[in-house]
Amino acid sequence: MTSSAPISSQLVSRAYRGTILHALSRSELVYFADGLLLVDSEGLIVACGPWADLKDALQGVAVRQCRPDQLIVPGFVDTHVHLPQMAVAGCQAPSLLEWLDTHIFAEEARFEDEDYARTVSAWFLSELLANGTTLANVFLTSHPGASQIAFETAASLGNRVVMGQTLMDKHAPDSLLRPAAQLLAETESLCKSWHGANDGRIQYAWVPRFALTSSEELLSGLGALRRQYPEVYLHTHLSEQLAEIAAVKAQFPWASDYTQVYEHFGLLGARTILAHGVHLSDEELLRLKTLDASLAHCPSSNFFLKSGRFRLMDVLQRQLRVGLGSDVGAGPELSLFTVMKDAQYMQSDTLVPLATLFYLATLGGAEALHLGHRVGNFEPGKEADFVVLDLPPSPVARQKPTASSQQDSEALLSRLVYQGHQPWVAATYIRGHQVYQRTAIAQN
Ligand code: GUN
Ligand code: ZN
Repeated sequence: MTSSAPISSQLVSRAYRGTILHALSRSELVYFADGLLLVDSEGLIVACGPWADLKDALQGVAVRQCRPDQLIVPGFVDTHVHLPQMAVAGCQAPSLLEWLDTHIFAEEARFEDEDYARTVSAWFLSELLANGTTLANVFLTSHPGASQIAFETAASLGNRVVMGQTLMDKHAPDSLLRPAAQLLAETESLCKSWHGANDGRIQYAWVPRFALTSSEELLSGLGALRRQYPEVYLHTHLSEQLAEIAAVKAQFPWASDYTQVYEHFGLLGARTILAHGVHLSDEELLRLKTLDASLAHCPSSNFFLKSGRFRLMDVLQRQLRVGLGSDVGAGPELSLFTVMKDAQYMQSDTLVPLATLFYLATLGGAEALHLGHRVGNFEPGKEADFVVLDLPPSPVARQKPTASSQQDSEALLSRLVYQGHQPWVAATYIRGHQVYQRTAIAQN
């Protein structure tokens, strides 16, 4: 979008020239073959538009010139991912509950060791940046010490994250459990230290793992915390696999469905992010919409654990807030490129518009996290979170039936969704600061 207001050249402190693509909505894309992104000294976007229209606002500001095969897009948004599962991503098991028992709980128990927690936190949070992910909604481990380390690491690397200590008081190994009262005190203390830190780039979430690992005392305590701190997020799993849903029914016989368990304890509303929601009924979708809860669609994970097919088109048609999640470690990779592609392939009988997939991976994710007013695209006033991508050169020119800008952007999007992968990420910026630069691979 070109800013219609005149641009004050004093405001501009950094400028990036290249091909630019961003989404204004599910169906509206903005594409500049030769574009300019202007950023002020606070890291806020001053304007984004064609080079020819904006170049006069530069007045001496040095321009970072991208190559013709480079593309500038908004940073990707991962609405559901687990930091302590980084080292076991892609370990297979026949079902969700067996996978948790076989691979996940044992790995998460290792975070008792704070050196281990420090190593994996630095690895995970820097890999997010190397994948072009500039906003992530992250499950931590159950240990307050390891959680504190993850927050400190995010603050020092400059990540934009929503994170919280994972809370469990039943149905997991003893080393990961603590009494509800203790968990509630620990998580409240972490929230007080970190919610809103780093100029708002760090936000806190209450994170009950899922209904099965939660007592009623824990869930009702979280309901009380939500009432006390309405601006804090709640992040959990919902309705991922049929065996899980049957177990929830047995554990909470009074609930009419899985959604009602969380609803009963006051856990659903704006800033609630629910991962998966693969088996939700029409009625549950309606209630989630009414409550303004958000869904994190994790297609790569759903394929991996054979959870079922998420009703993406129904969810979009009902206008629920929805973003994409890698769900590492059930999802094998952090790359939102892979997740966009899997979201397409999961809808076996419908072609999801490319613009919708790109929107979900950027602005849609930000809106699902209630941060669409701050990031997600290049509207003036937003924070400059963006990625510079290298598109691999081809020895032959691509066929161009007619050279319309809309066809150019469709062709570009097609490459991003079906061929994009992590090595394309050349540089990542959060609030105008460069937080990742790909190093050249030595040739010999
Ligand atoms: N349900 C409860 N815990 C988890 C988890 O760690 N990953 C996934 N995919 N689902 C869960
Ligand atoms: Zn998950």
